[in-house]
Amino acid sequence: MDLERILFTQGFGSRRQCRALIAEGRVSVAGSICTDDAAQFPTDDLTFDVDGASWRYRERAYLMLNKPAGYECSREPQHHLSVFGLLPAQLVTRGVQCVGRLDEDTTGLLLLSDDGQFVHAYTSPKRKVPKTYLASTRHALDEGQLRALREGVLLHGEKTPIAAAAARIRDERLLEITVNEGKYHQVKRMIAAAGNRCESLHRARIGGLALPPSLAPGAWQWLDPAQLDALSTR
Ligand code: URA
Repeated sequence: MDLERILFTQGFGSRRQCRALIAEGRVSVAGSICTDDAAQFPTDDLTFDVDGASWRYRERAYLMLNKPAGYECSREPQHHLSVFGLLPAQLVTRGVQCVGRLDEDTTGLLLLSDDGQFVHAYTSPKRKVPKTYLASTRHALDEGQLRALREGVLLHGEKTPIAAAAARIRDERLLEITVNEGKYHQVKRMIAAAGNRCESLHRARIGGLALPPSLAPGAWQWLDPAQLDALSTR
């Protein structure tokens, strides 16, 4: 692939901006500055530098973010900051999207990708991807609430009850709950329908992929092949 296209596909701006970066000597490949925008490079395992920062060529971007509270999963946030502001500009330019949304005050595991099929597959209700949350509650949890969550609660505006795929009490006011859908405010509404109130919500896991404890709030990382595979396990 030619160098201009490599930079373009990786989110370094318009084709003109990519040509300018190359002409200005700001791009190097294998340690040598390359000023020829038509120079060809194999993209397998390709690493290049722009202004001294190293980038690996990736045909598609798959990443996870440890979403902090106070951020909206929107490119045009209404009242808070945008999660996209936590990512390098290149990832935003290449069009990564959130794989489902977390509420502004929800923290934890958020996936992003520029692979439309992947985003669709993991947000489609048909796929029933289990998502596990830790919810702190205002009132002490009890067996009646757990039973309601497991057997199904009717949410306002829904025709049929929705049941948690799993629910267990982790502490007096800490619920671990797994849901297979991704309805609006689903977990908070389910907890309310079971007779309690969600005070804070954290997504800990999607499929078999847990948020790594080493990923600080606000930090992101690429998904490696094992992590991508883990997503489709339960
Ligand atoms: N359920 C909610 O209520 N909020 C979220 O952000 C995610 C799941």
